[in-house]
Amino acid sequence: MATHQADFLVIGSGLAGLNAAIALSEHGSVILLSKVQLGESNTAYAQGGIASVMSDEDSFDAHVRDTLKAGAGLCHREVVEKIIEAGPSAIRNLVETGVQFDESDQGFSLTREGGHSNRRILHAQDITGREIDRAFRMKLASTENITILQHHVAIDLILQDRFSESAVCIGAHVLDAHTGAIDTIGAQATLIATGGAGKAYLYTSNPDVSTGDGIGMAFRSGAKIANMEFFQFHPTCLFHPRAKSFLISEALRGEGGILRRRDGHAFMKEIHPLADLAPRDIVARAIDAEMKRTGDDHVCLDMRHRDPAFVAERFPNIHTACMSFGIDMTQVPIPIVPAAHYMCGGIQTTERGATSVNGLWAAGEAGHTGLHGANRLASNSLLEAAVVSQWASEDMVSWAKEHQSPAPQPWNSGDARTPHEAVIIAHTWDEIRRLMWNYVGIVRSRSRLEGAQRRIELIEHEVIDYHWKTQVTRDLVELRNIVAVAKLVIGCALQREESRGLHYNQTFPEQSEQLYDTQAQSVSHNDIMWSRRPLDGSS
Ligand code: FAD
Ligand code: SIN
Repeated sequence: MATHQADFLVIGSGLAGLNAAIALSEHGSVILLSKVQLGESNTAYAQGGIASVMSDEDSFDAHVRDTLKAGAGLCHREVVEKIIEAGPSAIRNLVETGVQFDESDQGFSLTREGGHSNRRILHAQDITGREIDRAFRMKLASTENITILQHHVAIDLILQDRFSESAVCIGAHVLDAHTGAIDTIGAQATLIATGGAGKAYLYTSNPDVSTGDGIGMAFRSGAKIANMEFFQFHPTCLFHPRAKSFLISEALRGEGGILRRRDGHAFMKEIHPLADLAPRDIVARAIDAEMKRTGDDHVCLDMRHRDPAFVAERFPNIHTACMSFGIDMTQVPIPIVPAAHYMCGGIQTTERGATSVNGLWAAGEAGHTGLHGANRLASNSLLEAAVVSQWASEDMVSWAKEHQSPAPQPWNSGDARTPHEAVIIAHTWDEIRRLMWNYVGIVRSRSRLEGAQRRIELIEHEVIDYHWKTQVTRDLVELRNIVAVAKLVIGCALQREESRGLHYNQTFPEQSEQLYDTQAQSVSHNDIMWSRRPLDGSS
């Protein structure tokens, strides 16, 4: 069991983590954790692109307006304005780091996606995330002062005075997944950049690493968590038994793609003035309703009216992936279904990533700044990850100059035994993911949510018991965090007695007149405080 000490600890190696680690390395020593190998993150799978105002025909006002509209009244307006106005400088930083976005004669080639009133999505073909990840890893390789620990899984944060006003994060306990040892890492300032939690649902566009570990760790540490009921379902993931919910980018609809029932009927024009480019929540619910009404197991996305050469050249990654499943998207409609995609809620932070716990910041999908409100506008998440991680790193530097943390205590394994019943973990994983899909999915009801809450409480008892009696493995760490995410999504959904944005509850189909965020905070080992936080600041 090793002990490491650094000025800064960054947990996660997607865009938020990589950007922060590089910025922090100019001011002190950094330890960067990656749960598996570098390059495996939601970031690396991003397709459509990153939204920013880059053309004279566009304006910050228009981008703010589109974001607020998608967010259905719950965006924090000041945060939206600040992050959107920082977009062009974040893009400059990405380009200086080496990211090569597609260009046209007029400069960057800008595409459109659902809910955007203008072309403002910078992209690298349909593999924008892979290009961002490539450029940042190249830069990382030539950056000094960063110790990269791959296959290291953060288990829990280490707190001084946990659950008190003066609680301060002084590092983390981390599983070395190769040796099974549990290392202790001390740091003056820690950033959670662990991404999303799509794996809490049975069907998801997210890779296996997205298990909400940062949410679980922060929650157990007493940090405030907000708006977890707002889980975004991407309308168009490939429907194929071997495709593992491969994403079919919204940019296809930005380039004219039409959603059709299996009988060929184009249904979106009857549902929203923007038809196929309506905001994601509306499109996902419309598909869900069509599938439930017709009994079909999928609907289709039709690109056949576009020039085949254009389609193959603009979307080479998606075209190749579909071909590998025997689907030529230039000739036949693509079978698609919705899948869990993006966690709009998260660890409550300021727009600069500060959490409610001293010494702890969060950025990217793990954080909740208030940018997305009740529904994220497409391609605003890479923007948020780039901007907030930059600002968080500046504040972490200032904090570290003024605070000296004590060395943390090593992990105590007690008499934990070697796990010999892996089936328990595999079964419980499956049970939770099915429960979330069937009871806490695109359309919810009070009775289903209450049923889910009863079940998750039982599962939680079993998992915590197993966790303390058994040696820690990656599967077990993730299972414990999936349980925490499920519990938070269900609890926040029960707090919200209305339908708004991504949260549609048949029992409360109307919007409330009050605008509030839901919040959860562990105030002791056994007690959670659930609350509603009015957006106007009143209590
Ligand atoms: P991630 O990129 O997910 O990185 C999280 C990192 O944390 C990973 O490296 C992971 O290994 C590590 N980690 C997790 N837990 C631990 C732990 N316990 N210990 C150590 N390390 C840990 N957004 C857009 O704006 N535009 C798009 O076009 C777009 N397309 C998308 C397409 C797909 C298929 C998906 C899944 C998402 C897409 N998104 C898109 C969303 C966007 O990619 C993510 O929100 C964003 O990349 C999140 O970045 P991040 O740095 O916060 O987290
Ligand atoms: C997509 O390419 O459709 C994903 C865009 C996003 O999630 O922002």
